[in-house]
Amino acid sequence: MSVLAIDAGTTGVTALVVTDEGRIDSRGYEEFAQHFPHPGWVEHAPEEIWQATLAACRTALEGASAAPTCVGLTNQRETAVLWDRRTLAAPRRAIVWQDRRTAEICARLREAGHEPRVSDLTGLRLDPYFTATKLTWLASHDPRVWEGVTSGNTVVGTVDSYVVARLTAGARHVTDPSNASRTLLYGLASGTWEEELCELFGVPSHALPEIVPNHGEIGRTDPAAFLGLDLPITGMAGDQQAALFGQTCFGAGEVKCTYGTGSFLLVNTGAEIVRPAAGLLSTVAWQTPSGERTYAVEGAIFVTGAAVQWLRDGLGLISTAPESEAVARTVPDSGGVVFVPALTGLGAPHWDPDARGTITGITRGTTRAHLVRATLEAIAFEVRDVVETMPEVAALKADGGASSNDLLMQFQADQLGVPVERPVVQETTALGAAFLAGLGSGVWESTDELRKTWRLERRFEPGQRDDAAYERWRDAVRRTSTRG
Ligand code: G3P
Repeated sequence: MSVLAIDAGTTGVTALVVTDEGRIDSRGYEEFAQHFPHPGWVEHAPEEIWQATLAACRTALEGASAAPTCVGLTNQRETAVLWDRRTLAAPRRAIVWQDRRTAEICARLREAGHEPRVSDLTGLRLDPYFTATKLTWLASHDPRVWEGVTSGNTVVGTVDSYVVARLTAGARHVTDPSNASRTLLYGLASGTWEEELCELFGVPSHALPEIVPNHGEIGRTDPAAFLGLDLPITGMAGDQQAALFGQTCFGAGEVKCTYGTGSFLLVNTGAEIVRPAAGLLSTVAWQTPSGERTYAVEGAIFVTGAAVQWLRDGLGLISTAPESEAVARTVPDSGGVVFVPALTGLGAPHWDPDARGTITGITRGTTRAHLVRATLEAIAFEVRDVVETMPEVAALKADGGASSNDLLMQFQADQLGVPVERPVVQETTALGAAFLAGLGSGVWESTDELRKTWRLERRFEPGQRDDAAYERWRDAVRRTSTRG
């Protein structure tokens, strides 16, 4: 038996066919366009996400040795998508989680004193990152589209909801608690949309999706819409929670960090909603069909792998992301160069939407290798900033694209002073979606069975810690701050 897992990420869609031994049988990947209509704005065309989903799945299915029996889905979170309830056509582009256009709306709500109550209900903070203020913005800046929302013809959701709508040809308008808990509209303790928050952000609750558990029968793919396949969709979760699941971090206290576009460190806190230190978030990890919720504390760092992409696409300093390791290894250190990649503001633990990227310490001796090395170091420093705010992290399970970078992983272990463990399967996000779907359809009976599939590929033991370099980093972060 095997599972088709779809990971609708920020820069592209990955599709994996995963065997019942937790092995990757085949894969497909398709990028889609990033639209930057103004500085600080990031948009995606929903139709392009869907076409990339079809292309990635087609490739994965062509390479698979057996036909999958169910579908699991995971996705970039928080991004606000709108589509016509009947035709499924999107009346405008989606506003992506990285988009900063609602910084002012957030500041206004904060000044009006709403943040403590919002945080208390949602575990989040007033930041443009989350979905709700993107919808508030649309209500006043795109009245034509908003009229469709209030009249009930247009629905709203996150990328998971949109992809399920397309997979099922509009039969299902659903989301799951892990995605819902990123919207600023969902009550962590109540497990439902909060009318009080819908009113505050001006979002009609009738336009929101139904919240369903993370595994179990969610819907069926419509063969006419989805590659001739009639399969049950039996698992879904936001990508970071899916990665926590894929790393088999099922117990309270287990920690993972996914190095993707951004980096997201999640600690499983079990059945307890932990109110973390300032700078961290509380979120739903997953919910079982019988209604038991597992929660997590999260450190969300916005730009890590995206900084390497910028070296490649923006500056042309490298031609592929993996090349960053070889280039960085040509110098012993960054030569005093520090790069704070606040390219879309700063997330955890600083939360400064107006901060912008900064490079310090450049001399005439600075080469591209120093800047590339400083970029990899920045990723590790950003993760250390988050870990410093957490009670105790004994070891870190790493995954995601940049986790294949040995130099980065070693530097990370050195900076944290704890081992970093890298599994054989590093596409843990899609793997987590496969695990959820497989649990939901009987491919696997229990999380104990899944735990046995986790295999260590390499463990990076901490070595010499360069605290002077970290101090330089902290100083550079202070300089990016817009808060004086
Ligand atoms: O919260 C944003 C996160 O879900 C995006 O993840 O892997 O697409 O960068 P990724």
